[in-house]
Amino acid sequence: MNEMTPVTDIATNAAPEKAKPALPDAQTVTEVKHWTDKLFSFKVTRPASLRFRSGEFVMIGLMNDPDPKTGKVKPLLRAYSIASPSWDEEMEFYSIKVEDGPLTSRLQHIQPGDEIILRPKPVGTLVHDALLPGKRIWFFATGTGFAPFASLLREPQTYEDYDEVVITHTCRTAGELTYGRELIESLKDDALLNEVIGEGFWKKIKYYPTTTREESPKMGRITDLMRSGEAFAELGVAPLNPESDRAMICGNLAFNLELKDLFENTYGLEEGANSKPAHFVVEKAFLD
Ligand code: A2P
Repeated sequence: MNEMTPVTDIATNAAPEKAKPALPDAQTVTEVKHWTDKLFSFKVTRPASLRFRSGEFVMIGLMNDPDPKTGKVKPLLRAYSIASPSWDEEMEFYSIKVEDGPLTSRLQHIQPGDEIILRPKPVGTLVHDALLPGKRIWFFATGTGFAPFASLLREPQTYEDYDEVVITHTCRTAGELTYGRELIESLKDDALLNEVIGEGFWKKIKYYPTTTREESPKMGRITDLMRSGEAFAELGVAPLNPESDRAMICGNLAFNLELKDLFENTYGLEEGANSKPAHFVVEKAFLD
């Protein structure tokens, strides 16, 4: 922690400039993209010593305004899934913009060159280590819950470990699918994956985007589309089973709970953890 104390300029006797606190664990913003009026993504420099596993999250944020009584400034941090893969030089994040959200109301205005706080302590359950070996991996996301899968979809291990990779993304509107769709389209030209896994690796991917509140080619909640069997028929795969299928879930709380119930009580899957790998893992998407 390193705070600068304002000092009076003795030479000029001028009023001290308002001190700008140096950020602890500061990283510099290198790129910002706004996808909709409610969604944006950004990249920051990566701490030289930071190692993480694709799918993990870190705490990031900004300094709060000074406390009116004490003048002290404290960091305002939230858990954010790292959207970039473990091998990348920079770190990417995908965020919602909440108008009155304590952090995202301010974070949405960051520009390249600005600094944010990034605590270099990655953790999380959406990691390959928490799953037993299988044939097919499913990634289930709503909204910004796509972020950890943006990391895992660019991670060679995903294609080394599985024959098939199914990614479902349910959003309210079609515009909210764009970040994920563009990322998936970009995989075809991903130099590392083409080299390490082999050209045509992307044929392992089955992408199933749906919207619930705006017209799009596929409408409905993924949970309903699985229950009716429609999703499986359209994907051309059998419903999940413990022998072949592994899954990761990242979305809003109701979605996570509904899928967990479906997995455990309909498909007979068991929840895993870093300490006890099993068939599926769950993480709540960030909400401000
Ligand atoms: P819906 O529009 O029917 O609520 P949110 O923006 O509220 O986090 O929701 C993101 C997406 O997740 C929306 O498309 C929403 O559908 C969907 N969703 C919310 N709850 C569930 C759930 N329990 N099961 C499946 N999808 C859900």
